Amino acid sequence: MDEKLAEVRARLLKLSESAEADGEPLRWFEELYAGAERDSEEIPWARMEPHPKMVEWIANQPHVQGRALVVGCGLGDDAEWLSVAGFDVTAFDISQSSIDWCRERFPSSTVNYRVADLLSPPIEWIESFDLIVEIHILQAIPENIRDQAADGLPKMLSPGGHLFCVGRLLSQQIPDEPTPPWPLSRTWLEGRFSILNPMLFNHFSNEDSPSVDRYQAAWCNESNPLA
Ligand SMILES: C[S@@+](CC[C@H](N)C(=O)[O-])C[C@H]1O[C@@H](n2cnc3c(N)ncnc32)[C@H](O)[C@@H]1O
Repeated sequence: MDEKLAEVRARLLKLSESAEADGEPLRWFEELYAGAERDSEEIPWARMEPHPKMVEWIANQPHVQGRALVVGCGLGDDAEWLSVAGFDVTAFDISQSSIDWCRERFPSSTVNYRVADLLSPPIEWIESFDLIVEIHILQAIPENIRDQAADGLPKMLSPGGHLFCVGRLLSQQIPDEPTPPWPLSRTWLEGRFSILNPMLFNHFSNEDSPSVDRYQAAWCNESNPLA
């Protein structure tokens, strides 16, 4: 890990520990974005480009189109890519500063950026989206509220809608980094989304962190996802 990233990680861990101790475990996201003062190097997950696994999966699913919801959109790159690809995109984050930052980065965007909490999403989002993208959100939410966060996702899918997720996979290897993020098990993911039809579950790792196991997975809200 380079020196800058190590410094940012240390700050993140301090903020998350103190938020947890105060009983507000998600507070640190806003603190991190607000404190970054628009320097993306202060946001350890900021890729400044769409996630390549999402781009690849969407490119191979021409029948997936319509209304898309990007959960925990961060700095907005996944949402913007989906918008250019033809989706009618809503993207939300719990952090007001991240949403302000997205709007500043993409002033002509057609994405509907919103501040919202996955733990209590707006009622009008129920059964509304043909595609939901969740990248690195559930793994950033502590275990005691993670079930509730995950259970919100299938409810927002329209009939026939698709859920696409990317995250760290809990495997045989003992994680050598402090948490968050918490790697997630395949059993837990499949259990949370058992009302959906599984389409994909792939393991992969990134070149820059080959020892970290990751997954990409997709589910469909219908009995025959290939119909
Ligand atoms: C690890 S970051 C990933 C951001 C983005 N998806 C990406 O891949 O770059 C987790 C994001 O989820 C947001 N988040 C955390 N808990 C949330 C919640 N309950 N509702 C909405 N957003 C949440 C955070 O503010 C942060 O932007």
